[in-house]
Amino acid sequence: MSFFEVENLALAFGGVRALDGVGFSVEKGEVFALIGPNGAGKTTVFNVVTRVFAAQSGSVRFEGHDLTHVPRHRVVEAGIARTFQNIELFDGATVLDNLLLGRHRFDHGGWLAQILGSRAMREREDESRDRVETLIDFLDLAPYRMQRVAGLPYGVRKVVELGRALATEPRLLLLDEPASGLNPEETRDLAFWIDDIVHDLGITVIMVEHDMSLVSEVADRVLAMNLGRPIALGTPAEVRAHPDVIAAYLGH
Ligand SMILES: Nc1ncnc2c1ncn2[C@@H]1O[C@H](COP(=O)(O)OP(=O)(O)OP(=O)(O)O)[C@@H](O)[C@H]1O
Ligand SMILES: [Mg+2]
Repeated sequence: MSFFEVENLALAFGGVRALDGVGFSVEKGEVFALIGPNGAGKTTVFNVVTRVFAAQSGSVRFEGHDLTHVPRHRVVEAGIARTFQNIELFDGATVLDNLLLGRHRFDHGGWLAQILGSRAMREREDESRDRVETLIDFLDLAPYRMQRVAGLPYGVRKVVELGRALATEPRLLLLDEPASGLNPEETRDLAFWIDDIVHDLGITVIMVEHDMSLVSEVADRVLAMNLGRPIALGTPAEVRAHPDVIAAYLGH
């Protein structure tokens, strides 16, 4: 049994087969990349895993549990966090508050605890603050800590979103095009963070990414998709050289 596994996923939007027989498995501690031309179905895989959409067939398993049909909020509780291709943050809130929102699932005691402001609840809140401050240091966000997200440069907002995902303490992190829109220096920082996330924090990563030099640098294995179907699986070098992958990109 694999750490994470999707099998035979299918999902059509009208006549478009966004996913058609997609399956792969990821081992604990891996960096696994999904690549493919625009419209290949990469984001849809994440949307099915995080229950934004229900697959029409197939299954999703994580740490031995079947997540195929769980309610959406259970996915984060199960230990899976994600970032979005078009950054999703609370723009009017500060960096600090956006990261604290990632702690939501740890912070609320029952209704009685909330009314009484119980000590246990205050302790949980203190712990959340400590963890968020640690993440702020880890991601070099200290200069922006009390700034509203809306006014921040794009590259910084992407890092805030990464921080918010990490604040949920996932064991599996899904990154949808983490390097898109970043400059070379920001992309280099991202590569280091991914390495730390995997090796120091012990989090497994699946990332969708078009930047093949980043994929080659950080990914252990790559699945290439085209038109909703898996077309090649292997090391970054193997997949890059695969004739069907080359054809898919040229055909695009
Ligand atoms: N909510 C939706 N409604 C209708 N069609 C959708 C929806 N989401 C995705 N699709 C279609 O499904 C296909 C796969 O889309 P998806 O967003 O998964 O591609 P992608 O591989 O992430 O592409 P990109 O690299 O451009 O982000 C595309 O044809 C897309 O238009
Ligand atoms: Mg996408």
